[in-house]
Amino acid sequence: MAYINWEARFSVGNPTIDEQHQELFALINRAYETIGGDPLNEYEALWVILSKLIDYTRFHFAEEEGMMERAGYPELAEHRVLHRALIQKTEQMLDTLESGEAAIGAEKLCQFIKDWIEQHVLTVDRRYMAYLAKSTA
Ligand SMILES: [Fe+2]
Repeated sequence: MAYINWEARFSVGNPTIDEQHQELFALINRAYETIGGDPLNEYEALWVILSKLIDYTRFHFAEEEGMMERAGYPELAEHRVLHRALIQKTEQMLDTLESGEAAIGAEKLCQFIKDWIEQHVLTVDRRYMAYLAKSTA
């Protein structure tokens, strides 16, 4: 079973955004799969996938923010702050992982990203999609 499963409840009703969220879920699953692998490769594999995840997340957030901007979404600034915070926190955790500090493990990092994405998609993304749906109706 995958670490994070795509379910209907995650749909925000926009096929492009749903597809991008699914890609994020797939990357989180790939990151998680590296844990407990060959110790020599585990860290490197995780680092490569997490870097991809961060790159893809930046692309995805830019897409979302563009949509909100075009629609004149009033909560864009707050949403942007949340997006920035995730990228920053993930990069920080990746740095900590890199420096070998025991305080953070790969599992903790995956858990953090998984929880964040789930909550974000289910709450704040849903709010802006509802606004967009109304403004284009
Ligand atoms: Fe978002």
